[in-house]
Amino acid sequence: MDSTPDLPAFAASEPEPDQAPHRVPEISSLGLDTLVTEVAERLQSAAAVTDRMQRLLEAVVSVGAGLDLHATLHRIATGAAELVDARYAALGVIAPNGHGLSDFIHVGIDDAVAAEIGELPVGRGILGALIDRPEPLRLTDLGADPRSFGFPPHHPAMKTFLGEPIRIRDEVFGNLYLTEKRGGGAFTPEDEQVVHALAAAAGVAIENSRLYEEGLRRERWIAGAAAVTTALLSTDQAEVALTIAAEQVRELADAALGMILLPTVDGQMRVAHASGEAAEFVRGELLPPDSFAARLLAGESVHLDDMSTDPTVVIRLARSFGPSLAVPMVAASRVLGGLCVWRPRGALPFTDGEKQLAETFASQAALALRLAEGQRDQQRLAVFQDRDRIARDLHDLVIQRLFATGMMLEGAARRAIVPEVKVRVGEAVDELDATIQEVRTTIYALQHDDHGDAPDTLRTRVLRECSQAAAALGFKPSVSFVGPVESLVGEKTGRQLLAALREMLSNAARHARASRVGVEVDSTVHLDDDGRPVGGDPESLDRGGRPGVLLTVTDDGVGIPEGGRLSGLRNLTRRAEALGGDAWHEPGPHGRGTRVRWTARL
Ligand SMILES: Nc1ncnc2c1ncn2[C@@H]1O[C@H](COP(=O)(O)OP(=O)(O)OP(=O)(O)O)[C@@H](O)[C@H]1O
Ligand SMILES: [Mg+2]
Repeated sequence: MDSTPDLPAFAASEPEPDQAPHRVPEISSLGLDTLVTEVAERLQSAAAVTDRMQRLLEAVVSVGAGLDLHATLHRIATGAAELVDARYAALGVIAPNGHGLSDFIHVGIDDAVAAEIGELPVGRGILGALIDRPEPLRLTDLGADPRSFGFPPHHPAMKTFLGEPIRIRDEVFGNLYLTEKRGGGAFTPEDEQVVHALAAAAGVAIENSRLYEEGLRRERWIAGAAAVTTALLSTDQAEVALTIAAEQVRELADAALGMILLPTVDGQMRVAHASGEAAEFVRGELLPPDSFAARLLAGESVHLDDMSTDPTVVIRLARSFGPSLAVPMVAASRVLGGLCVWRPRGALPFTDGEKQLAETFASQAALALRLAEGQRDQQRLAVFQDRDRIARDLHDLVIQRLFATGMMLEGAARRAIVPEVKVRVGEAVDELDATIQEVRTTIYALQHDDHGDAPDTLRTRVLRECSQAAAALGFKPSVSFVGPVESLVGEKTGRQLLAALREMLSNAARHARASRVGVEVDSTVHLDDDGRPVGGDPESLDRGGRPGVLLTVTDDGVGIPEGGRLSGLRNLTRRAEALGGDAWHEPGPHGRGTRVRWTARL
């Protein structure tokens, strides 16, 4: 062995200068027994070091053996405990805000005991000391340290302690805690060294796991956004797709509640879709203007660590949840809505990475929302264009032809010799006039139907009332208007007119047994002092006629019996009289059915 010369035993047994040069020294004077013991010890410690190295290497290899973060942390704790013969080991992950622990993995304490101990440590006492000052720490008696916080009930006794921070580059990720060295002794400086080496390897393994999990998470968010886009494009109902978006975002964000918020016309925000816990309570709710809604509408993301303790939270229900994240859904610099997720109380706050992912998800959902909006607009436009064309055709072709026919008939009537023919042709002309009025009404309806933004005029309200009566009547009444009804009839008169119309239609449905009902609103009549029309000739105006509106409902039913009880009809009269008009009834054309009239001054 080449290394023998520097052993101290040799140095001590150099031959004395005064001794004879060729004398073989006594064996005992060489101190060979000491030498052998020394060599044996050295060999043993070398073997121990080799063994330790071996075990350290094994531990390092095992620590990096998988990518699941939780399993990796568990392997680090187990490896460290084996390496230094510690009975217990734990790994505390420092919370993202730097205060306390967000995760605590322990080995050596079985589940039953752990359950008895209850809550995991949050990072006070010695654990906290290591968080505040991330340096290796070796103690022979944990309890004797002034920083010690003591143990909770059922906790096993722990005396010797070795703590070592785990760093990922410059960031302290967490700490390794080892306690109760087997064999009774304290942890040695060598223990500290190997744990230090393991901690360095652990940092790398943890970073790999985190990157891997980050990648997985990203993938899930992207897949989630794609699912929403697919749903938006495959259904013409944006509603369905938005419900899916609420579900997706809740799952992706590990949240208890996911919501889609849409702006209202008056500049507030409403929970349009919700998924998860308490979804049925929040759906349809308006967010108070002093809540995060205002910031969201301004295009800002809002993220709170704990709503149950945050003084800025004004929504009562929110107080029973924990971390919250709200991000705007922006497309073409317009906030189309917002995505909001709430985690349960005590859950981990949202990280910056999660916030970014949620923002990307929201902007994709917003883009798709825009696309769906565009598709719907296009479809509606096509329908409107079609209606416009039909309305034009009706006006230019059908009405003109009816007019021409009417005039031809009138000409024929003038030349007719037999009086009965004259009368009949006259009736046909009247029918044609009525038909022309109906076609006009249809044209108007075509041009105004379903325009969500069209104002609710008297015309549309009368039409709606008549459509609603169709169910009770069994057929749709015909409706016609004479004169600029909506510009002449005021709001108050209009409301009374509609009430009268409703009563008249209900009477026709309940009592008349009619097969036809006609409704006419004429805003060109003039009324005398009793509220009865005076006819349209200028002379009547001279007689004091006042402009008024006349509502007529005609049916071909059984007619109103004489002397019956009147209630609804009396009400009609009262309403009319209050407006300077009148209401009365008479037999219908040719003495058949009923004609009820109602007037009011304009
Ligand atoms: N269009 C009609 N055709 C035939 N009979 C009618 C018609 N309108 C009313 N009547 C008769 O006139 C009566 C009085 O009508 P009115 O509207 O005043 O009262 P009602 O309809 O019976 O009760 P209410 O209107 O209070 O519900 C009715 O009971 C019915 O017999
Ligand atoms: Mg009635």
